[in-house]
Amino acid sequence: MTNKEIKIAYQECNSLDQLDSQDRKLADAAIAAIVSSYAPYSNFNVGAAVLLEDGEIIKGSNQENAAYPSGTCAERTALFYAGASRPDKAVVKIAIAAGQNGVLCESPVTPCGACRQVMAQYQLKGGKPIEILLIGTKKIWKFEKVEDLLPFTFDSI
Ligand code: THU
Repeated sequence: MTNKEIKIAYQECNSLDQLDSQDRKLADAAIAAIVSSYAPYSNFNVGAAVLLEDGEIIKGSNQENAAYPSGTCAERTALFYAGASRPDKAVVKIAIAAGQNGVLCESPVTPCGACRQVMAQYQLKGGKPIEILLIGTKKIWKFEKVEDLLPFTFDSI
């Protein structure tokens, strides 16, 4: 066997003020989307904002259900809505923010595995890298493409 290694590159900054205007707008949209979160079980409110190639921003939030698996994360709400309502527009960026009891999280919230897989699929569909912005009030991470969050993505069928 040969030893192999994968390196993940990402950027970090400490405040929303350090983002360029496009990223700032998308981050603000993700934060704004948190108000529509329906999370009576976890009380963890998540907002996501998807930027389409034509500049349109689509928002989504987590929607929980008494039958737990029936709920969905903010990222998938936004991506599926974008896919269903703007099927011909590639997704080029997604921002994610979260809060609890009306207070934004200080650290970035990293998407679950299922959301990473869905991001990977929309990246494949759109044919353009999807940048990912994970927003915390004290730390922000930016990834250039989905592979940086999901190496060895399943796309074999
Ligand atoms: N959640 C998201 O919406 N996105 C994430 O990236 C992490 C988790 C939701 C799912 C569930 O409604 C709640 O947060 C607690 O896990």
